[in-house]
This record gives sequence, structure tokens and C-alpha cells, in this order.
Amino acid sequence: MSGLFQDDANTPSPEEVLPEPPPAEGPGLFGDALPAQEPPAQPTAAYRVLARKYRPTRFEDLIGQEAMVRTLRNAFATGRVAHAFMLTGVRGVGKTTTARIIARALNCTGPDGTGGPTAEPCGVCADCRAILADHHPDVVEMDAASRTGVDDVREIIEATRFRPLQARTKVFVIDEVHMLSRNAFNALLKTLEEPPPHVKFVFATTEIRKVPVTVLSRCQRFDLRRVRSNDLHTHFLRIAVAEGVNIERDVIDLIARAADGSVRDGLSLLDQAIAQAQGSITAAQVSEMLGFADRVLVFDLLEAVMDGKPAEALATTEQAYERGADLGVVLQDLLELVHSLTRIKAVPQLRHSAELPEAERTRGAALADRLSVPVLARAWQMLLKGVAEVEAAPDRRAATEMVLIRLCHVSEMPTPGDLVRRLTGGGGESIAPAPGGGGGGGAMRAMAGGGAAAAAAARPDAAPAAPLPPTFRAMAALVADQREAMLHAHLVHSVHVVRYAPPVIELRPQPEAPRDLAAKLAALLGRLTGTRWTIALSAAAGEPTLAEQRDAAKVERHGAVAEHPLVRAILDAFPGARIENVHDPDADDYGLPRETPAAQPDGPPADLPGFAPADATFADDLLYDSDIDPMEYDA
Ligand SMILES: Nc1ncnc2c1ncn2[C@@H]1O[C@H](COP(=O)(O)OP(=O)(O)OP(=O)(O)O)[C@@H](O)[C@H]1O
Ligand SMILES: [Mg+2]
Ligand SMILES: [Zn+2]
Repeated sequence: MSGLFQDDANTPSPEEVLPEPPPAEGPGLFGDALPAQEPPAQPTAAYRVLARKYRPTRFEDLIGQEAMVRTLRNAFATGRVAHAFMLTGVRGVGKTTTARIIARALNCTGPDGTGGPTAEPCGVCADCRAILADHHPDVVEMDAASRTGVDDVREIIEATRFRPLQARTKVFVIDEVHMLSRNAFNALLKTLEEPPPHVKFVFATTEIRKVPVTVLSRCQRFDLRRVRSNDLHTHFLRIAVAEGVNIERDVIDLIARAADGSVRDGLSLLDQAIAQAQGSITAAQVSEMLGFADRVLVFDLLEAVMDGKPAEALATTEQAYERGADLGVVLQDLLELVHSLTRIKAVPQLRHSAELPEAERTRGAALADRLSVPVLARAWQMLLKGVAEVEAAPDRRAATEMVLIRLCHVSEMPTPGDLVRRLTGGGGESIAPAPGGGGGGGAMRAMAGGGAAAAAAARPDAAPAAPLPPTFRAMAALVADQREAMLHAHLVHSVHVVRYAPPVIELRPQPEAPRDLAAKLAALLGRLTGTRWTIALSAAAGEPTLAEQRDAAKVERHGAVAEHPLVRAILDAFPGARIENVHDPDADDYGLPRETPAAQPDGPPADLPGFAPADATFADDLLYDSDIDPMEYDA
């Protein structure tokens, strides 16, 4: 264990390692690029934060980045090491660490000084040690956050022209590379395209989308993952053991969760916990430190709220408040819990996964069983809004209480999906919720009532036979509802209707339609409607296919819109502008005007809903041609 990480506190100070290059007076190659020496005004210089002390020095010590490590190992093993890498990922997942390991892997000469590039840098050769100590003349780290300009990049480009001073390869590590200016990126492109053989670049960034694609396409890219809380747990436990601190597993759990995938964040929390505690570290201490309301309380609160019991919810909040919990954080915890529960519902195996904390697995699973996904989703949305409200409110406590009361209140109401089902599926249940109070839980009641009955009615086997679809299009839609995608596609694209008189259909299929189309369709319709269908093939031309009709309607809409004076004015004002797409909210799934049986096949202008009438006045004419104060138009 002790050999797993090289404690860089133990490595000799840089000056001892490398007598040759004079220690940088004045600015180094890149000004402050040389590592800032430990601030002298640090009395307890012996202490080194865990995140630095346990910085992995070899690929095998990196946790949670297996895919990247595998690829890099292969690259070194086969001698196909890219000339530029782009490492991206959230804070504290190992980007800078990986960059340094790559630098050593490229430059390690092995214990005997004769080795070549290797995925297993020895850690003892002069180059390895110098890089470990941040003091290798050929490994240059630059922080693009502070040096964003073209001149900084020119310095690099200049430097690439010289051979390495000491090592095989000059490695330029540019951290936060997305901060470089556009010009700086451009200046870099050429060198990046064909760097001299002795030069490698390693870029790191948390915001990959800000890096131009021209740069990305010249790099081998690695996406470092958030580390799973399981892996974090193991890692922190090992470190705690190595540090000889006494820490409960629950505490490690808490920290691993709070770290949210970032190893550094977790290690900083662990540091903090160790510093605060004398002797052993308890979960209560740490939750207090994290500002977390304790788990039990969050569960109590969610249960109260979901059962529609405002009095209990407020009492629990009061308790938390007295203990000094920040109520905004309490709401966030609720939000997080709702998320966990929804995940448990979506992926039932999670109940047994060690990734979830104990409480979620037991009490959470029970709660998840009682709540439906729509109810959880609604709670999520309300809490999300609530969290923002609390941040904005002058009185956080009052705002929190309002959110909780609101949640209690809606827990009595059916979800919109429920309502629709009750209204359409019948079920005779009244929409008004059962009067509150009592156990059971409003939300749960709402789901168990009309919802269940309606759901049963909607199932095809229990459903009465569907009425005969009145039109071909309605029939096609019915087929689509049955998820008969292929059959439906053929109905849309390769069938001309000659006569539609349910339950008789005459069709002229196009040659590409399958031979058994008619048979399949008849069977499906028969099953759905409980009626025998006759589907005859005809040689008559029939109507255009639905797809053809749709295209024609599209062209027509396009034409009608293009004719509209407002649109013409826009096209004139912006030469080169085009009408890309005309969206008609009134069209049905086939892009055709809806077929309401009594509908009038009227003129086309009716197809431009919500659009200004053709004789509308231009707003800007009014605005600019008259001398009325434009503000008046607000009224
Ligand atoms: N994958 C990992 N395995 C083990 N330890 C890690 C890992 N990632 C980060 N750490 C720990 O976190 C510390 C910081 O990591 P590093 O500097 O590589 O993060 P980073 O990704 O560059 O973060 P930032 O975006 O904030 O610069 C390391 O010193 C190490 O202790
Ligand atoms: Mg970094
Ligand atoms: Zn080495």
C-alpha cells in the first residue's frame, strides 16, 4: 500500500535533483510557469494536503479512468503515441495528473538510464524524479487561464524549435486550454499539425466545447469520467488507512457522495473532516460540516410531504432549523432524494447496488414503491423551482416552508396523466381527491384510484373492439398505434387507396410493397375491430399515397406562406433569407389538414393559423414612419 503512491513530499527538493539548469531567477520560459515554491510563510510546512500527497504517479494508480489508461498503455506498448492529447473532464478527475504521467512515460529512462518510452515509468530515474518534482526543464506546464494571448503561444512555438535540454521529448502541458484566445489557437494550429518529432503536447480542459474543432481534430482526445462513488469509497478508505485515521464507513460514504465524482473534492473534504475531528470521525460531525441535513430527517420530510401532512413536514423542518441546518440545503437534499427514488424506480436493480447509500437502498426503496414516476417527477419540478425561490427569497425559512406546504398540497391531487385517464377511461371515479388526513398518502391514493382501472381499460386485450376507422388515414393511425412500424410505413409510402369503405378496402400497392401486405393488414384490422375485413387489390390509379399527399401539402403551404406579404417583406429585407420550413400546428401526423368529418375543405389561407392576416400593417412601418413615441406601443 505504501508504495502505491509516491509521496512527493518525500522526494528530494528540486535543487538537489537537478544541479545543472540554474534555478530560475526571474521568470522561467513562461514567466511563472515554474512551480511556485511552497509559500515560505507556512509554519507547518510538513503538512501536505491529501490531494497532493496522493497524486497518482503511475497509470495503475489512477482510479475510474480505465478506458483511457488502457488506450494509453496500448499506445506506449506499440510505440504509437499521439503527438497531442486533449484531456477533458470535470474538476479533479485526474487531468493534470494524467498529463504528468504521460510526460514521465515519454521521458523515463529506467533505473539503469537506458530505457525508452514506457507505460510504466520507473519513478527513480533523473527524469522521472525531476518531472515528479515539477522541475524538469523539458516538461513545461502552462496555465492558459493566466496566459491566453498569441505571444504566450508564440513563445511555445519558438521553444519547440530547440531540442530538449535533457530528456528525449519536450512535453508542453497546457492546462485550461479553452481559455486561449482565438488568435492563440490559430497560432498553435500549424505546430500542432506537424510538431517536430521531439515535441508532444498535452492539453487539459474542463470545457471542451470552447476548444475549436480545428484544434480538437489534431489531438487524441480522452474524456475523463466522473469517478463512481463506489470507486471513490474504496480510494478514500485506503487513504484513511494509510493516514492512520479512524473513520466510520458511513462517513466515507457521505464524503464519496458529496464529492460528486471528483476525487479532489472528496480528498479535500476528507482533509477537512480529519482536521476537525479529534480521534474518530463520525457521520454526524461530517454531515454538519457538509451542511447536510442528516439523512433520516430528509426521509422523514419527504414522507410527510408525500403523505400530504404539512404539520409533520413543518415540525421536521423546525427541528432541522434548530440544529442549524441551512433550509436551502434541506430542499436540495430533498431534490436529490427524489432523484434517487426515481432512479430506483427506473432501474430496479439499483436497490441492491452498493453505489447507493444504505438508507436509500432500504427506506428509499420502500418509498419508491409507494410513489409513481409522475408523482416523483412533479415533486422534482416543484422542488427545483423551490430551491431557486429559496435562494432569491429574503426569508429563506419562510420560502422553504411555502415550498413544503405546496408540495403537501399537491400530493393530494392526481397527476395530469391520471386526470386524462380518468376522463377518457371512465372508471366513474370522481376527480375530487378523497378528503385529506389519515395515512395512506394522497399521492398514492390518487394513483390507486381511477388510474388503475383506467389503465386496465386501455390495455388492448381488455379493451372492447375499436370502432371501424372512418377514413384511410385514421386506419393508418390505428396501425401506427399498434407499433406496426413496417406495415404503417408501407401504408404511408406504397399504397394508393382506390376505395375505402370499411370493412372493405380497395388498394393499388406499388411494386415495392410486400406481397403479404393485404393479408397482414386484414388480420391486424380484424383483431383490432372484431370485424372481418376485405382487402382487395385493384388496378385503378386511386389516390396519391399519404406520403405524396403530405409532400404536396407541404409544397402548397410553402407556396402560400411565400405569397404572404409579411413574408415577402422579410425576404426582401434580408436578401439570401430562405423559408426553411413551414410548421402548421393544425396538421395531423401525416402533415395533412385534420379530417374532422364535418370539416369544410376551405381555401388555403385558413392553413396559416396564428399568422397575421394578409392585409396586416407592418409594425415597423408604424414605428418608424410615424413620430409617435414607440413606447406607446407597449400599451
Ligand atoms: N483518477 C484519479 N485517481 C486518483 N486520484 C485522483 C484522480 N483524479 C484526481 N485525483 C486526485 O485529485 C488531485 C487533483 O487531480 P488533478 O489535478 O489531476 O485534477 P484535474 O482533473 O486536473 O482537475 P482541475 O480541472 O481542477 O485542474 C490529485 O492530486 C489526486 O490526488
Ligand atoms: Mg488540473
Ligand atoms: Zn523513470
